[in-house]
Amino acid sequence: MSSTTSIHGMWSSRLAFILAATGSAVGLGNVWRFPYTAGEYGGGAFVLVYLLCVAGIGIPIMMAEIMLGRRGRQSPINTMKSLAREEGSSPAWQLLGWMGIVAGFLILSFYSVIAGWTLAYVFRAGSGLFAGADAAVAQAMFEGLVSDPERLLAWHTIFMVMTTLVVARGVASGLESAVRWLMPALFLLLVVMVFYAAEAGDFGSGFAYMFSPDFGKLGSRFGEALLSAMGQAFFSLSLGMGAIMIYGSYLNSRASIAQNVIIIAGMDTLVALLAGLAIFPIVLANGLEPGSGPGLIFQTLPIAFGQMPGGALFGAVFFILLVFAAWTSAISLLEPITAWLVENRGFSRPRAAALGGSLVWLLGIACLLSLNVWSDVKVFGKGFLDLFDYLTANVLLPLGGVLIAIFAGWIMRRASSADELGFTERSFVYRLWLLLVRFVAPACVIIVFLNAIGLI
Ligand code: TRP
Repeated sequence: MSSTTSIHGMWSSRLAFILAATGSAVGLGNVWRFPYTAGEYGGGAFVLVYLLCVAGIGIPIMMAEIMLGRRGRQSPINTMKSLAREEGSSPAWQLLGWMGIVAGFLILSFYSVIAGWTLAYVFRAGSGLFAGADAAVAQAMFEGLVSDPERLLAWHTIFMVMTTLVVARGVASGLESAVRWLMPALFLLLVVMVFYAAEAGDFGSGFAYMFSPDFGKLGSRFGEALLSAMGQAFFSLSLGMGAIMIYGSYLNSRASIAQNVIIIAGMDTLVALLAGLAIFPIVLANGLEPGSGPGLIFQTLPIAFGQMPGGALFGAVFFILLVFAAWTSAISLLEPITAWLVENRGFSRPRAAALGGSLVWLLGIACLLSLNVWSDVKVFGKGFLDLFDYLTANVLLPLGGVLIAIFAGWIMRRASSADELGFTERSFVYRLWLLLVRFVAPACVIIVFLNAIGLI
């Protein structure tokens, strides 16, 4: 079977794919989520486990996910259905696609709220509000935003409209130029921030905080920390829900998947580490609490921008670039559901995107209300935003990832997977990959799961 193109369009080149996939991977997960989650678990040990998860679980699963997408050439649900048929397996594999749709809805609903914070901060930075801000001022400013449902709703709405518009036009157009220029710019700004942090912050402590693992500090939270570090790897690499799968379905059949994956995962990891190196020295120099939670960068960066010369402009540009990074990630979260509506319901692309975007927008309202008006409403002890974040990153994505690994490693014939990856069955890289998706990745995820719920 294997068609060579997708009805939804194709990337114009291998570079376009790398840019789009990197655009999906690099986002709030790197700059917002990575530092505060690492901070919640005391730094070094978390970072080390995170890096191991990226290398041993993330990279092989990303190869598997892109491979399945490219072979199926449809939305994740239909891709899994037709690949399962091709390999003589059960149509129940399409449930993997459905799980991804659910995860995508949940993630985008809170992602858009956080992207809304970022939008708000563009204007706060630009209007010089950060000048001379100390920790108390920055904290009060953040709390002012989060406790105001109307403002949160306005920004969330703007961000969802932005996302829906791009998906309605088709991801292959427009995305490319945004990523080609803005990603390197964000990268550069982060490097400048790291230098600034080295100059004005406590770089030595920040560096040590991130890179000298102390597992003893975790105590009884060891299992929880492992799960969070693994979840962060899945979240940051956009794995386990079909986003990277559908991006793979727009990739031409000749490009080397392994090579692309190394580049994408490498850049994603680099951005996360740079964000950490930019933030922790400032956090520690100002006596802030690294474990203060999701507000961490929004309470830290204003202090830095408020002190540096030209900080208003620099801060505004930084948050603009972060909005773009979030935007290119959000697009990849809305794409699988949109493609499915087009394939199975015969919707036009704009209508499909509008329907998907509206549902996410509604769900996002529950997230933003959980920060203020509904702060007493708890499910499993968490408000909606925290719950959606936890449930997706720590449960649904790793579960989706394991199923992808199992399908690619055990269900697919070796002839099919080797052919699609562009290796011979005997080659070292293929055998290493097979070992990782068959045994290592599933075993690690299952052990971390069992450990986190206290069974082992
Ligand atoms: N990886 C993105 C980030 O770090 C978020 C994201 C985009 C994502 N698409 C995804 C996360 C798919 C999980 C699954 O900001």
